[in-house]
Amino acid sequence: MQYLDIQPLQSRSFRNLTGAQVFTQAIMSSKPEGIMKAAPDTTAGAEELFDSWADSYDSALLSWKYLAPKRVADIAFAEFGTNKGGNLLDLGCGTGLGGQAARVVGFAGKLVGVDISQASINYVRNRKPDTYHELHYGNLNMPMTFLMRDNVFHAVISIGVFRYVEKFDVLFKEIHRVAAKRAIIIFTHLAASWDSDVRQCRSAAQEMEKMGLWSLVRVGEPEEYMPNNPDEELAQETIRYVVYRKR
Ligand SMILES: C[S@@+](CC[C@H](N)C(=O)[O-])C[C@H]1O[C@@H](n2cnc3c(N)ncnc32)[C@H](O)[C@@H]1O
Repeated sequence: MQYLDIQPLQSRSFRNLTGAQVFTQAIMSSKPEGIMKAAPDTTAGAEELFDSWADSYDSALLSWKYLAPKRVADIAFAEFGTNKGGNLLDLGCGTGLGGQAARVVGFAGKLVGVDISQASINYVRNRKPDTYHELHYGNLNMPMTFLMRDNVFHAVISIGVFRYVEKFDVLFKEIHRVAAKRAIIIFTHLAASWDSDVRQCRSAAQEMEKMGLWSLVRVGEPEEYMPNNPDEELAQETIRYVVYRKR
């Protein structure tokens, strides 16, 4: 397993631990930027990474000047106009920074979060109990059968998640199913991955346009992502804010 290369794991204290325990110990004893870099950009990698990191994720990200949740909340509510009610779905909600940002800009409606990290969901439940109305454990690569009602969300957001997603055709159809008519859909993606169409994200989004299911509002210019990350390579990454509107 890739994580086993991390230096502290070679110490004697890790010898009798299971894989998950080893990873948790690595998180506690290593720097988060190192762990983030070591985790594969896959859903399985994300589940393990964020399950182990949930308790200290917020403080690391805030110290890295992670502004994406606030930027997405601002974009969402510029599009909403003065209507700050409605239903908002936060896909890959993690520890709830997106939901918190939405509340800070005055969103007063119903918030639903989905994530594959049960530890992150538990963290939100325990530490931010008034932020989301519903939290679901779920995999964005699969139909979200736990969201039973179609056409209900006035905004769907996904922040910092797409590097781990593997089936964008499935995800975009599900977003379309649960989004209300004229709903705003906002996601961030690594600029390099969007531009080079990694795992066919951009082409799957364009296919939705061709099918007349949603219209492109804008693809933003690359912006900084976590510029104060102590790891030079992660600090240099840029993201695009991509906005669609359901037809
Ligand atoms: C970098 S964190 C971002 C969390 C939050 N949106 C934020 O901005 O702080 C990425 C989140 O995506 C979740 N995630 C990654 N792949 C996923 C998948 N296939 N299904 C559901 N959640 C996923 C991870 O568990 C993690 O909580």
